[in-house]
Amino acid sequence: DTTNQSGRDNPFQLEMPVIVGLSSRIDCENEALTVNIVLGITGGIAAYKAPDLVRRLRERDAEVQIVMTASAEEFVTATALQAVSGRPVRSNLWDKEAEAAMSHIELARWADVVLVAPATAEVMARIVSGAAPDLLTTICLATEAPIALAPAMNHVMWNNPATQSNRELLEQRGIHILGPDTGSQACGETGAGRMLDPDVIAATVCGLSVGKGDGSLQGRTVVITAGPTREPIDPVRYITNRSSGKMGYAIARAAAAQGADVILVSGPVSLQPPPGMQVFQVNTAQEMFEVTHEHVRGADIFVAAAAVADYRPTEIKPQKIKKRDERMSLELVRCPDILASVAALDNPPFTVGFAAETENVEAYARAKLETKNLDMIAANRVGDDQGFDTDDNAVTVLWPNGRQEFTRTAKTDLARSLVDLIAKHFYATTGSNTEPRLTVISNLD
Ligand code: PMT
Repeated sequence: DTTNQSGRDNPFQLEMPVIVGLSSRIDCENEALTVNIVLGITGGIAAYKAPDLVRRLRERDAEVQIVMTASAEEFVTATALQAVSGRPVRSNLWDKEAEAAMSHIELARWADVVLVAPATAEVMARIVSGAAPDLLTTICLATEAPIALAPAMNHVMWNNPATQSNRELLEQRGIHILGPDTGSQACGETGAGRMLDPDVIAATVCGLSVGKGDGSLQGRTVVITAGPTREPIDPVRYITNRSSGKMGYAIARAAAAQGADVILVSGPVSLQPPPGMQVFQVNTAQEMFEVTHEHVRGADIFVAAAAVADYRPTEIKPQKIKKRDERMSLELVRCPDILASVAALDNPPFTVGFAAETENVEAYARAKLETKNLDMIAANRVGDDQGFDTDDNAVTVLWPNGRQEFTRTAKTDLARSLVDLIAKHFYATTGSNTEPRLTVISNLD
């Protein structure tokens, strides 16, 4: 039993995890990217989605090595997983033959990303504590690759303070927590605890390793804002919003993957700074304005994905405001509009905004495109678990004479499509080199 030396996983746990690790290599001949993934599967009802998850990962050119617990075999067979992954499934830390072929330490090094999906409350607790009684947790402890967990469990277990405190600790340590989703559960109840859609997990996990595009933004500088801002009221309070930074960070990664020199100006988020780019952390709209303007002159493209506060308190109280009256008013003043100010520069970059709207989405977005004098805007319906703080998103991109819809998909996939569209319009507008840096290898004489 790779989950617990003493026996079964916690029988009260409704859904148990799967692990995936992933690594990337460049094939020198055709510059295609192969991603190696170690996927660990533990027992739980969501484990039945594992074969689909493996297929979604393989569709993205990932090599998948499955590490399965004994409990997982109650829900999905090793035979099925071996068939879809194309590799023998690992399940025992003490399997001499398998260890001789590739030891658990080699496996931990082989992984570029380790994914646990679904991740039970129990496995989260083990990873937090550093316990490594089985192959899966041993790999988690021994790997230097990014680790992603897709929790899946009963909603009461998910909301339990112990699980929430473990989630917080894992996030503080840089472990990516994907989901969970909210909805009806295997136990017949409804709440947060469903494993995310396998396609969203696969896209997000593959996005954790910096891939390579066709180099269409090679030599271009792209400045991106992401995340929320915090506008202090007093030393302990601030005004903010629900932006997680996921959309902006995904765009930053996608632009870097296309060869761009990326400058990411980020509000306070719990995401790890993406590798291979300059990241500036700010808090307030004013700081975001200043840091953006320090770097945006001479940039080729500016993308404003941040949810910047429109208003901030007129004054920041030096001491904590005491509660006295039944009512109190807060006087607010407009924050600088970063996007409009960049578009108004003498020689502005190709400027792309987002419009987060709850109603009249496209009309309001087009009005922002025109009044702020932008090259492009992504109309983003938000609210009701859409747009803000989710792993997926849907937008309609507008430009002066056209539009393109992007249906709901993982933010990592959406970001790649947006960057492709932005690059196409950037070259069309500026008239500069439109040739993507593709090398075509042909067998024909
Ligand atoms: O971060 P996530 O959780 O992944 O969520 C993504 C997102 C929903 C935040 C993102 O996709 C999005 O829609 N970002 C824009 C949010 C927003 O503030 O929209 P807005 O309609 O209020 O602003 C319009 C545009 O002006 C935006 O590009 C914004 O960055 C920019 N702006 C707004 C105010 C301000 N003071 N300065 C600005 O630059």
